[in-house]
Amino acid sequence: MQIAIGADHGGFELKEFLKAYYKEKGLELIDLGTYSEESCDYPLIADKMAEEILTKKADMGILICGTGIGISIAANRHKGIRAAILYNDKVAALAREHNDANVAVFGARTQDKNDVVKYLDIFLKTPFSNGERHCRRIAELG
Ligand code: RB5
Repeated sequence: MQIAIGADHGGFELKEFLKAYYKEKGLELIDLGTYSEESCDYPLIADKMAEEILTKKADMGILICGTGIGISIAANRHKGIRAAILYNDKVAALAREHNDANVAVFGARTQDKNDVVKYLDIFLKTPFSNGERHCRRIAELG
């Protein structure tokens, strides 16, 4: 599975932490930036992620900003992107099972690193349920 990661300056440090965590496990994440703590605009990172996923260069994405809010709003403006802020184990699983979310979102200033790793591990290993009602609702998103 190809996984892309992107963050604004608020999420830069957590992005670097997650890259190192997955590298240790033998998984190289596709880094869409930002590449330093210099201030940048989260919509541009979300746009890069949407492009990466919609052109199938990546199967899944991870986006991070200060709260997770701005970057998820920006990502969800793209048809075909379903970005979910993960804040507990149950939500991490349900975002996949019910919503077929393709981007996991975190707030680096509001969430603990160890929780983020735990939610991501659940998110990445949980398949979409393919349930009829869930497929219908996703189709209704347009
Ligand atoms: C950047 O300072 C901050 O506004 C951004 O990372 C994010 O939290 C916006 O939702």
